[in-house]
Amino acid sequence: MIVSHLNLTDFRNYTSVDVAMVPGPNVFVGSNGQGKTNLVEALGYLSTLGSHRVSTDHAMIRTGQDAAIVRARLEHAERQVLTEVQINRSGANRAQVNRTAIRTRDLPRYFASVLFAPEDLALVRGEPSGRRRFLDELLVQRSPRLSGVMTDYERVLKQRNTLLKSARSSGLRENGLSTLEIWDERLVALGSEIIEERSRLIAELLPEVAAAYTAIAGAEHSATLMTQLSVLAKSGDDEVDDAATRGGVLTAAEAAEFFRAALARLRRAELDRGITLVGPHRDDLVLILNDLPARGYASHGESWSFALALKLASAEVLRRESPSGDPVLILDDVFAELDQSRRARLASAVGGFEQVLITAAVLEDVPEQLAGHIVRIRAGAVVEDDA
Ligand SMILES: Nc1ncnc2c1ncn2[C@@H]1O[C@H](COP(=O)(O)OP(=O)(O)OP(=O)(O)O)[C@@H](O)[C@H]1O
Ligand SMILES: [Mg+2]
Repeated sequence: MIVSHLNLTDFRNYTSVDVAMVPGPNVFVGSNGQGKTNLVEALGYLSTLGSHRVSTDHAMIRTGQDAAIVRARLEHAERQVLTEVQINRSGANRAQVNRTAIRTRDLPRYFASVLFAPEDLALVRGEPSGRRRFLDELLVQRSPRLSGVMTDYERVLKQRNTLLKSARSSGLRENGLSTLEIWDERLVALGSEIIEERSRLIAELLPEVAAAYTAIAGAEHSATLMTQLSVLAKSGDDEVDDAATRGGVLTAAEAAEFFRAALARLRRAELDRGITLVGPHRDDLVLILNDLPARGYASHGESWSFALALKLASAEVLRRESPSGDPVLILDDVFAELDQSRRARLASAVGGFEQVLITAAVLEDVPEQLAGHIVRIRAGAVVEDDA
């Protein structure tokens, strides 16, 4: 799939802009603060209804305006789709496909993209929640149905926590205990499905991450993934527990068994602390580089490369089963952080994607083989190449 045309109205620092894009690499160049990231952020939003930079939509509406509009023409196998989203300061956002209104939440089905940006360094260095989000977003991108399972799990978790908290303050009576057991079963049923889905995804990502890391960093490096499952932990502590770290796929039935046992084991601790101590909301994806955990050991460039490998791997996984070709690969400011040999290797690794959108403050940072179609950005406008 490719984006052949992008039009923005009142999006961030753009009043109005039209950008034509080509298959293969497209490079957006401009000084700091001119609007390169804004441009690719708009496409990311069209594809996921979220921004990699902010959690609320309002920041994307140009200051002083009421609405931002992102429109893109997508092409795949001679077919064209015109997609549009309007982000409103007040009231719900609106979406259109081929000028017909659709439910906004259905928009992501039309446009698959994978965006890598400096913020993704947090995938390697940050808290487990970021890695869980990475996995869960990819799961939902592949099977939208899972979004319902995740929402239900969150709801059950919240209700169970409320019950545990009230038990802590007033003691758990007989009927409270049986209510807790009902929530336990729901928690286990939904949670085990999430554990299985994540573990299958991790198993699928693993060879792709290893290959992508080697492709970027060279064959002498090895990157691998493990799962850290709170249902296997001996205690409910936040400390890393080796027994809880494992590889391989876990079925929902196996997960449910561990889950029930963990809830029984930690009943006392949960009642004391008033929160649910085990379940997919406490799990982690462990990233291992050359036999050491990347978090806490990897260098800046290595962490960057690992985060990038995770994103490239997710693009591979998406491309494998997509009926509409490759996801559009978006690389925001990635080359400046890599050494020359990693830059060149990355250029070859992404060369096979139908379309790659690259931003860079300095064109010299972008390997020559990718610097074919260049778009210069200045103060929220596209400027002619010789300007
Ligand atoms: N809602 C908004 N309304 C108006 N301007 C905005 C809005 N949000 C961001 N901006 C402006 O957009 C500019 C940032 O653009 P962007 O992040 O795309 O820069 P960039 O070209 O990627 O720069 P860098 O090379 O530093 O990454 C800033 O000057 C910021 O003030
Ligand atoms: Mg930027």
